Amino acid sequence: MSATSSAVGIAGLGHALPDRVVDNHYFTRFVDTSDEWIVQRTGIRERRWLDEGEKPSDLFLEAGRQALEDSGLAAEDIDLIVLATVSSDHQGVPSAACQVQEALGCVNAAAFDVAAACAGFLYAMQIGRQFIAAGTYQNVLVIGGEGLSRIADIYDRNSVILFADGAGAAVLQPHEICQQGLIEDMILGADGKGQEFIIRPRGGPAEPITPEILNEGTYMIRMKGREVYRFAVSRMTALMEWAMEGQDMSELGLIVPHQVNRRILETATEKLGVDPSQLYINIDKYGNTSAGSVPIALNEARHEGLLESGKLIVLAAFGAGLVWGAARIRW
Ligand code: UT7
Repeated sequence: MSATSSAVGIAGLGHALPDRVVDNHYFTRFVDTSDEWIVQRTGIRERRWLDEGEKPSDLFLEAGRQALEDSGLAAEDIDLIVLATVSSDHQGVPSAACQVQEALGCVNAAAFDVAAACAGFLYAMQIGRQFIAAGTYQNVLVIGGEGLSRIADIYDRNSVILFADGAGAAVLQPHEICQQGLIEDMILGADGKGQEFIIRPRGGPAEPITPEILNEGTYMIRMKGREVYRFAVSRMTALMEWAMEGQDMSELGLIVPHQVNRRILETATEKLGVDPSQLYINIDKYGNTSAGSVPIALNEARHEGLLESGKLIVLAAFGAGLVWGAARIRW
């Protein structure tokens, strides 16, 4: 675990979702499931999936474009683009960050991807923050997003009902310049012992794709839901506790967590004694968009007027790896 306290702020936000709405009934065509089961066990009522002809990078680009516009900066002002995803158009070659760099016209920016699954946005944010704190760069565009529907197995009821598509973005700047969204502290962590809990088992460079792998579908995501669930509750609680340690609880404005499962989030916040109104949930509409989930929720909460000036906003996420991260922001 690590922590710093540099004065970096959030100068702009953006998010993008596909127009295509996929409700729970859709899955009953492929697997033995029901709307009732999915709503009860996860809180998801519908999610957004890319339509035919659409690409994950369309979402990354739109989220980035909005954040840039929101910050008031020009494309040429961006020094660095850090993009968190595990489902880029070309599986990392080239990086999605380079696609965005070209499409947005960020001609002065370095660009690279980060793979940290559902904690990806927090990893990318901490990287961007460190570059600014070190004085290397001034304006960093951080994007988190996924096209998970493209690597989810429609015949695996354990996982396909959860995963969805979407992206969110933030422009980071020295706080003395943007004067808003002060990132007070962040924490990141990992535990590779849980690497098999959420995994694309075969079909990558370790075991290149064959007709057999194609047929069994093991090049797509497999998940041990129960194991992840147990880990998730304790980790999310610990992250929120870390973020609020030594803080007056009356300072808390909103917890904006990775939208993993309504039950996990409610159990974790109950343990902290947080009022349910201070927990932001949009999983019912969007499912689990992994690296997109936290920035989408943050920007939606802002548009709904839920980010109160001067209050603390807590971001918390965990995911495949296993990895996790949290941030405490003074809005
Ligand atoms: O972003 C991070 C990645 N993922 C997560 O954080 C996921 C964390 N885990 C979860 O959210 C939950 O474990 C799930 C929603 C995945 C599953 O809910 P659960 O209450 O933990 O169910 P379970 O895995 O214990 O399964 C209970 C039963 C099983 O049937 P049997 O063995 O009792 O006959 C499953 O096969 O529910 C069955 N099941 C389903 N039934 C209907 C699993 N998926 C479905 C489904 N529809 N879609």
